[in-house]
Amino acid sequence: MNISKQTIEKLYTTRNLSDEELLSLLACDTWDALLFSLADKVRRSVYGDAVYIRGLIEFSNFCKNNCYYCGIRAGNTGATRYRLSPEEILSCCKEGYRLGMRTFVLQSGEDPFYSDELLCHIITNIKSNFPDCAITLSVGEKSRESYQAYFDAGAARYLLRHEAAADALYNRLHPASMSASGRRQCLKDLKSIGYQVGAGFMVGAPFQTLSDLIHDLRFLQSLDPDMIGIGPYLTHSQTPLHMHENGSLALTLRLLAILRLMFPHALLPATTALATVAPDGREKGLKAGANVIMPNLSPVSVRQLYDIYENKNCTGAESAQCSDILRIQIEKAGYRMVTDIGNVKRPL
Ligand code: 5AD
Repeated sequence: MNISKQTIEKLYTTRNLSDEELLSLLACDTWDALLFSLADKVRRSVYGDAVYIRGLIEFSNFCKNNCYYCGIRAGNTGATRYRLSPEEILSCCKEGYRLGMRTFVLQSGEDPFYSDELLCHIITNIKSNFPDCAITLSVGEKSRESYQAYFDAGAARYLLRHEAAADALYNRLHPASMSASGRRQCLKDLKSIGYQVGAGFMVGAPFQTLSDLIHDLRFLQSLDPDMIGIGPYLTHSQTPLHMHENGSLALTLRLLAILRLMFPHALLPATTALATVAPDGREKGLKAGANVIMPNLSPVSVRQLYDIYENKNCTGAESAQCSDILRIQIEKAGYRMVTDIGNVKRPL
């Protein structure tokens, strides 16, 4: 099917398209400039020129899972593993607070070392030191009871990418011990507990087709998340899928713009993977509808060890310590760096 200007305008006004129209749009680069400018118009109507900053603390790269694409998978015996202590995590937050950050994202592999008790202790500790900050957790699949305990301890947001909504694709990317439905259930549990929830997926993942991406968009419509994190798939030599090519910048940007038009109120990060696939990836992501950046706050000594993919960008403007460079990058792109708590703006 040929995409017409009217189809893009329909997406802009109705926030939706048919599967066939979406498929054609994903495959077509003719209208990218129009798509990005409408996405920018929508993001400005909801969020103005604000780009929210979240401090990312990658506190452990131990993982019990074996996702076929991920560099910190349990089966990668070549990975150098690390864990941060509660004190080290707190000092990352101190540094972030000093830099103006009011949201901390605590991310790790699925590491059983951090029991619910320990995680709750870490959360309570951060909350009592920084009561004006939001804590986002991103520690994988847990029971509803565990999610509830973290929420009660003070974590208000949770990021758990659904990775792939289509079962067949999910199963080609993950071992049999993991399932797309289990993942979706976690997201529903998180939502029903009251978290602001983030889902998402990789773009250009091995075996992924455009119709898999339609599944992802439909799943997101049914979940209605507060945040949607997408970034290109990037190869890692120590994984079973190492021979697959990186996802493309162009398709990631097109999807970001489509997401902004379908989900005007969503928080959409310009991810580190986007900044890794192209030097100006993050700036382009902002111009295509993204409105969040998560600079790395982990201790510099461990930053390269959290290598879910290779050549990760984490010592330049992606790093929290380079917030002046980041601010200038954001301003050059036409936006404004905002360090406040940055809650989702849902329609009343
Ligand atoms: N390339 C890009 N993204 C990856 N992730 C994991 N491995 C890779 C990779 N090789 C993403 C997953 C995960 C998030 C933390 O990073 O989507 O949810």
